[in-house]
Amino acid sequence: MLTPLLFEPITIGGVRVPNRITMPPMHTNLGSVREGITDQGIDFYVARAKGGFGLIGVGVIDAFFVDHAGSPHEFFLDTDLHIRRYARLVQALRNYGAIPYAQVGIRRLFHVSRLHREKSVDRPSLAELSVEQIEQMVEAVVAASVRAAKAGFLAIDILGVGGSGHSLFTSRVFNDRCDEWGGTPENRIRFAVETVRGIKKALGEDFPVFYRLHGSEFLPGGYGLEGAQFNAVQLERAGVCFFNVTGGGHATAVPQLTPNVPPSGYAYLAHEIKRVLSSAAVAASNRNNHPLEAEKILRLGWADLISLGRQSLADAEWPMKVQAGRLADLRYCIACNECMDIVVINNKPVRCLVNPRVGTISEVEPVPPSKVRRRIGVVGGGVAGLQFALTSRRRGHDVILIERRGHLGGMWHHASTPPGRGQLFTFLEWLTRECANSGVEFRMQTEATPELLRQMNLDLVAVSPGSDPVESSLPGSHLPHVYPAIAALEGGIPIGERVVIIGGGGIGLEVASFLARRSRVRPEVLDFLEDYQAFYDNDREILDRKSNHITLISRQRRLGGSVGGSTRWVLAKEAVIAGVNIVVNAVAKEITTNEVVVEHGNEEILVPADTVFLATGLQPNIRLYEQLSESEVAPRVELIGDPAQAMHAIESVTQAFRLALKV
Ligand SMILES: Cc1cc2nc3c(=O)[nH]c(=O)nc-3n(C[C@H](O)[C@H](O)[C@H](O)COP(=O)(O)OP(=O)(O)OC[C@H]3O[C@@H](n4cnc5c(N)ncnc54)[C@H](O)[C@@H]3O)c2cc1C
Ligand SMILES: Cc1cc2nc3c(=O)[nH]c(=O)nc-3n(C[C@H](O)[C@H](O)[C@H](O)COP(=O)(O)O)c2cc1C
Ligand code: SF4
Repeated sequence: MLTPLLFEPITIGGVRVPNRITMPPMHTNLGSVREGITDQGIDFYVARAKGGFGLIGVGVIDAFFVDHAGSPHEFFLDTDLHIRRYARLVQALRNYGAIPYAQVGIRRLFHVSRLHREKSVDRPSLAELSVEQIEQMVEAVVAASVRAAKAGFLAIDILGVGGSGHSLFTSRVFNDRCDEWGGTPENRIRFAVETVRGIKKALGEDFPVFYRLHGSEFLPGGYGLEGAQFNAVQLERAGVCFFNVTGGGHATAVPQLTPNVPPSGYAYLAHEIKRVLSSAAVAASNRNNHPLEAEKILRLGWADLISLGRQSLADAEWPMKVQAGRLADLRYCIACNECMDIVVINNKPVRCLVNPRVGTISEVEPVPPSKVRRRIGVVGGGVAGLQFALTSRRRGHDVILIERRGHLGGMWHHASTPPGRGQLFTFLEWLTRECANSGVEFRMQTEATPELLRQMNLDLVAVSPGSDPVESSLPGSHLPHVYPAIAALEGGIPIGERVVIIGGGGIGLEVASFLARRSRVRPEVLDFLEDYQAFYDNDREILDRKSNHITLISRQRRLGGSVGGSTRWVLAKEAVIAGVNIVVNAVAKEITTNEVVVEHGNEEILVPADTVFLATGLQPNIRLYEQLSESEVAPRVELIGDPAQAMHAIESVTQAFRLALKV
């Protein structure tokens, strides 16, 4: 086996776990006040147990719901009905050999907007809580833990991260109390320690208690490794036998989840925690989804288990596929964070860009075959067209995909090109391979015209033509040194020293970072050359120079446009780090042969420009669909793609999948 350690059993707190792969708790909005956990929620976990996850964290179950801070769709465990429903879940997970544990906690004491990363006068104060309230919170978590044990959960995990009540108490930034619940490291961890003790008292000293831990606060003024190690040691002394170690929480300005976080980049935190513990097991978390990298963490002894959060959303069968050595079949999480934005910002049930079955149909049983076999044509080989083709083919239809270019993937190539976005490409690779393996027929370099489609004698044509950059009416936009922003990513054009990008949305920011970094040598190459003393004279200075002078002109003050909230700030920060000169509240009025005329407040400024890129938006390509519908090329003609969501492929991919289920 390629990855033997991943599949070695381990005993934690007296409970034998069949492998080293844990799915951490994830708030999914699959709960309800009435049912505690919905049928969809139960099904969601069962699919992951069936897929081979050994240790499954269900939660977070909110033990202390604060109206307007928490969500009515989160998991609750208050009533006998709730207990019965979780008992059903526990039994179903155990039937597949998984070990279910419940994460219990205080999900939100304050609305997340008050836990903002920038210093805020509106920052919540723990000092306002009375000691009685604090004791009530501990009691609430203990009582919910007792109910969880009644439902059959084999361990209780305390939510110690992510802006939860417990994470605020341990925080050096958010805990402003000066009594025995704050002020010193011992006092800040007291709330967590008392919770552990309370659970142990109620359920017995042998009942396994886990803790979700920050390996660092990653916050100015917050605690770092030493503080996290201190917390872990105190909690182990109180009886915690397993720590799943993640990075910083909601308030940190260090990216934790975006694609630019280096794969397995935070495993070192688990290692540092493991070093100071006597016997508790430790899981490494965040972006550990490559099996060989995951195995390496275990081989190095940095952790005992590997935590796969979003990867468990992206591919419920990750463990099973890895165990069988089917690495090429893995559908990787691309860290796009659509799931996070949908759940946390939009407060909707979870969905996943690369796995549109989440939130659509059960993942426990295979997608049902179609009763009638049809002949289907798909126009457009972007990710949405490919998803439609794949699902239709798997349901038993004959599928022919027509693509005008010589390659598949459409705009996904652009999305995968900017710095730190390479992992997005794995989705295209997966779709292409699965389509080819399942027998989708490709007609490449073929323009889909009404004549061609009519000749093909199809039952249904699905048109998935994507978007194109909007035509600009800006004076000077026709000049030869002016290009659509995506041309910068495609290459093959002359790019001068002084570049101006017009438009501060997601594409503008990503193209700006790409251009600003395009001549830089990768850090590991620099390290290698440094180690072998390969630099002479002023080599290093030459390599450290900035490649171009990039200016980004943004009409809006808030950069990133429609990009989701959990990624937008990272894109903006990346551009700043890359050295892009960003001018906000600025409107480009005209492009001349060597300048861009910009209105900035009451002033007019002239920004020198050898090359100008327009990142002024995308417009859907629906003309083709209209033409094909009007020409009645097949009994049914459908359009895939949401014109308003060109920067969120999750919408077109989900739409494609859902449409394919109806054919
Ligand atoms: C820089 C950049 C970054 C991005 N980042 C993200 C991101 O982080 N997350 C995200 O979700 N989205 C992102 N996007 C948007 C994402 O790339 C698109 O939403 C997605 O690729 C659209 O896929 P699609 O299949 O709907 O369309 P497309 O990828 O546009 O595919 C349409 C296909 O149809 C073909 N076609 C059109 N007309 C015809 C015809 N008549 N005959 C034959 N073939 C035809 C085209 O050649 C093309 O291959 C980004 C885009 C850019 C430019
Ligand atoms: C939508 C979403 C909800 C989450 N909710 C929780 C939670 O309730 N409890 C928890 O401990 N961690 C939660 N997390 C954090 C994950 O457990 C995990 O630590 C994080 O996603 C990083 O790991 P990954 O790269 O493997 O996904 C959540 C993450 C996401 C994306
Ligand atoms: S939505 Fe994106 S980040 Fe979330 S699990 Fe799916 S691929 Fe990963």
